Amino acid sequence: MRIAVLGTGSVGQTLAGRLAELGHEVTVGTRDVAVSLARTETDQRGVAGFGAWSLANPGVGVATLADAARGAELLLNATSGEASLAVLAAAGAENLAGKVLIDIANPLDFSAGFPPTLFVKDDDSLGERIQAAFPQLKVVKSLNTMTASVMARPVEVGEGDHTVFLSGDDAEAKKTVGVLLAELGHTDVIDLGDITTARGTEMLLPLWIRLMQATGTDRFNFKVVR
Ligand SMILES: NC(=O)c1ccc[n+]([C@@H]2O[C@H](COP(=O)([O-])OP(=O)(O)OC[C@H]3O[C@@H](n4cnc5c(N)ncnc54)[C@H](OP(=O)(O)O)[C@@H]3O)[C@@H](O)[C@H]2O)c1
Repeated sequence: MRIAVLGTGSVGQTLAGRLAELGHEVTVGTRDVAVSLARTETDQRGVAGFGAWSLANPGVGVATLADAARGAELLLNATSGEASLAVLAAAGAENLAGKVLIDIANPLDFSAGFPPTLFVKDDDSLGERIQAAFPQLKVVKSLNTMTASVMARPVEVGEGDHTVFLSGDDAEAKKTVGVLLAELGHTDVIDLGDITTARGTEMLLPLWIRLMQATGTDRFNFKVVR
């Protein structure tokens, strides 16, 4: 499948590399290709500069947000939650119409430091805001409740089972995302319902962050035991 990964950070790099390895035709979308490729230093969180990552992953294309979106059959939103609506607007509503978007972003607000708060919660969600702003896009919220390496290779990160959630209004889109999740190695997929159920998974983030602080690692996941 032709996939556009919007985002050059940890999630964008990890999933773009993994999806290309699985045989998909992947293009990473970014605001300014030259500026992103000029980033070669690893940051303080251990995330490679995008330019260095791109050199090591020559099979993954790099393009502007609009060009990446235009050429894609399916998109991933792996951008900062605060920037996601602006990023999708820059990608162009006409390039998004009718396509599936896996929305991985979380509405984290770091303005008061760490741990972040959520800038939308309880009665709305980032997933819903994206769906409302781009009604012709088929938004499926998923993968946002685990760290990037667990998204990409659940079976190789941590022993045991992993649960991943789906929220979205379009049943066919969720089926498409389910196939991709299975390719990544996710076997326990819970369809929570329509896009309003993204409130639940986005509100898991405050717990996820406390679990990371308590256990000293981000290599863990939620498992729902029935
Ligand atoms: N890191 C994880 O393991 C993890 C796990 C679960 C969910 N998430 C969520 O996934 C998303 C991506 O996380 P991340 O850690 O990979 O990267 P990130 O640092 O949160 O976001 C990087 C991306 O956001 C874009 N961006 C940042 N500020 C922007 C602005 N003002 N205007 C336009 N674009 C802007 C950047 O665009 P350019 O490429 O143009 O610079 C870059 O592609 C976030 O919403 C995060 O909450 C992350």
